[in-house]
Formats: sequence, C-alpha cells, structure tokens
Amino acid sequence: MLTINEKVDLTKYTTLKIGAKAAYFSIIRQEEDLLEAIVFAKNKKVPIMILGGGSNILMTKPFPGLVLKNELKGVRVVKETDTSAWVEARSGEWWSSLVYFAVERGWGGAENLYYVPGTVGAAPMQNIGAYGVELKEIFHSLRAVDLKTGKEKVFKASECKFGYRDSVFKKKFKDKYFIASVILKLSKRPRLRVDYGDIKRMLEEKGIKSPSIIELAEIIRQIRDSKLPNPAVLPNAGSFFKNPEVSVSGFKKLQQKFPDIKFFPGSKPSLIKIPAGWLIEQAGFKGKRFGPVGMYEKQALILVNYGGATAKQALAQVKRVQAGVFKKFGLKIEPEVNII
Ligand code: EPU
Repeated sequence: MLTINEKVDLTKYTTLKIGAKAAYFSIIRQEEDLLEAIVFAKNKKVPIMILGGGSNILMTKPFPGLVLKNELKGVRVVKETDTSAWVEARSGEWWSSLVYFAVERGWGGAENLYYVPGTVGAAPMQNIGAYGVELKEIFHSLRAVDLKTGKEKVFKASECKFGYRDSVFKKKFKDKYFIASVILKLSKRPRLRVDYGDIKRMLEEKGIKSPSIIELAEIIRQIRDSKLPNPAVLPNAGSFFKNPEVSVSGFKKLQQKFPDIKFFPGSKPSLIKIPAGWLIEQAGFKGKRFGPVGMYEKQALILVNYGGATAKQALAQVKRVQAGVFKKFGLKIEPEVNII
C-alpha cells in the first residue's frame, strides 16, 4: 500500500533548500506504487509532480497536487558484445552511481558526466552535459509511464528530441510521463574526451598523458569539487542559467566591444555559445551577496543560498542578474533550473 502524506514541506528535498508545501506527497519505491499514485491523483483530480534529486528546481509556490519522490533504485547490464555494453538504471538511482558502475568496468562514454548532481530520470529530461559530452551521445532508450493512463512507452533517442539542456520531456511531453528507467550504450573501446580546457590543464598539472577511464572520472570529480559548491554544505542548484547562444554576426559585434569575451561552438554551426558565468562575472555579480543569496565566488553561474533564503529573494536575484547582464551586453539569459 502506498503511503500518501498531506501538506508536506518540500524544502529538505531540494538542494537549493528553498521549498513550499505539496498538498500530497508520496515516495515511490516500486513501480506498483506509481500506478497507485496515478489512480489517487485521478480520483482527487489533482496534478502530479515528480521529484528526483531536487537539484534543478526552485519552488516559488505551494503545489496543489501530488508530489512523487522517486526512489526507484537499481543498475544492471542488459546486453554485452565485444565492443559495447548496454546498462539500464532505474530512474531514482543517483546518476553518478550509474556512471561509476560503467567506469568501474572500464566502459566508456559517461565518465565526463561523473558527479553531475541528480537522478538517472532527470538526466534525459534536460540532456545533461559537462566537459564536452552530452547525455544524448550515450543514450540508448528509456521506458516511461504515462501519468494519465499508467501505460508504458519506450522512447528511442530520436523520439526524445535532445537539444542543449532540452528534450521532448521539457516541451511537448512536459509533466506527461514518469521516466521509469534509462538504458545507456557504453563503449568497451572508448576514446576518451580530454579536449575541454579544465581537463587539459588538470592532466598537465598531474603529468598524466593518457588517463584511464577511472583516472579521468577522478579528474572530473576534482575539477567539479574545485569550482562547484557542495549542496550539502552550501545549498545551490548547479548552473542556474543556460549559456546563451547568439548568431555569428551578433557575436562579432559583441567581440568588438568586449575583446576578452569567452565563447564555444553553439548547438548549430550558425550559433556561438557564450558562457553565462563569464557574463555574470563581468556584470559584477560574482561572489557578491544580496542578503542570503548570491552568485558563487568561484563560479558565477551558480546561485547560492547562504542560509534561510526565501523563494522571493531567490527570484529577485534571478531578475537582478538577468537585468545586469542585459544592461551590459544586451543579452537575455534564461534559467536552466526549473522555476515552479
Ligand atoms: N567563467 C568565468 N567566470 C565564471 C564562470 C565561468 O569567466 O564565474 C568562464 C570560464 O573561465 C570558462 C567559461 O566561462 O572560460 C566556461 O565555464 P565552465 O567551464 O565552468 O562551464 P560553464 O559554461 O559555466 C557548463 C555547464 C555545466 C558543466 C560545465 C562543464 C551549462 C549551463 N553549464 O558550465 O553544467 O558542468 O559547463 O562542462 O551549460 C549544470 O548544468 O548544472 C552544470 C553544472
């Protein structure tokens, strides 16, 4: 039997430690629980919200429906050939446990995504990416449950419509499915991706020429540790904004005005991606506090709750930073975090 609690404060379930109350709350430990939850929500005529690691949300108001905390755990090998391995994880598993499962076996592809916070189910939602790799490159398929009918559907990579921090689950199928499990296709003869600036620097520093998968994963962990605040110590939700993309001509104009501007290739050849962290730093927000909120001193892209911040204060900070960047660069930066 599924336990459903009423009027539950979600603050502790978010890494930013800013929450609000859910009218109903339940922990999903097995897939049968989910089917019961769907029936409950249908009878009460309330919406469902799924909570994974809570590492990518800013809650600004009470949720009038049923919040499901995903605790479906488990990782297993589905299939192996001489060159590839297919690994399936349930969606409530920690993303990094899945990465470690692969890394330990010497299976490559996921190592650059080590220590991206959150659960397996959240990874395809926003096509997580770090250090030159995106989930879509190793994604095979996922199994999801329709939140209206309880029916299962398998989504292949092409059906997920992955983009930069984007998928069909943030657009057309927003709030329509519960992702139950994800299959990754990993390589037994991996080509490691070490071209990203921070990785190169760290490899040189350590005098490592060709790292093993485990070494690379450890390097990623160390880079992240040195720049990103641990949410258990300093509550945050990772990168708060997406890196804006501009046309090549728009970028050239910016570059004339700001010759030091940092940039990367965009998601299409016609686009250039500008690191929002750099823009925010240049606009003067890095390490600057406004009451209990501020942008992190070592990575200006991260909004930090220094203790007891309210949703109102966090939202004011979001607006302040957006306005500051717009004033200086004429660029709009959009939140990457889901503001609910
Ligand atoms: N930069 C600054 N000042 C800052 C922060 C960054 O000048 O305060 C500059 C850096 O010097 C660098 C550039 O901006 O030249 C890019 O910075 P970084 O490598 O730290 O990456 P990012 O673009 O800020 C993205 C992802 C991260 C991911 C890293 C590493 C987004 C929104 N964020 O950040 O993802 O870990 O690259 O690959 O795309 C996340 O999504 O939550 C996340 C942490």
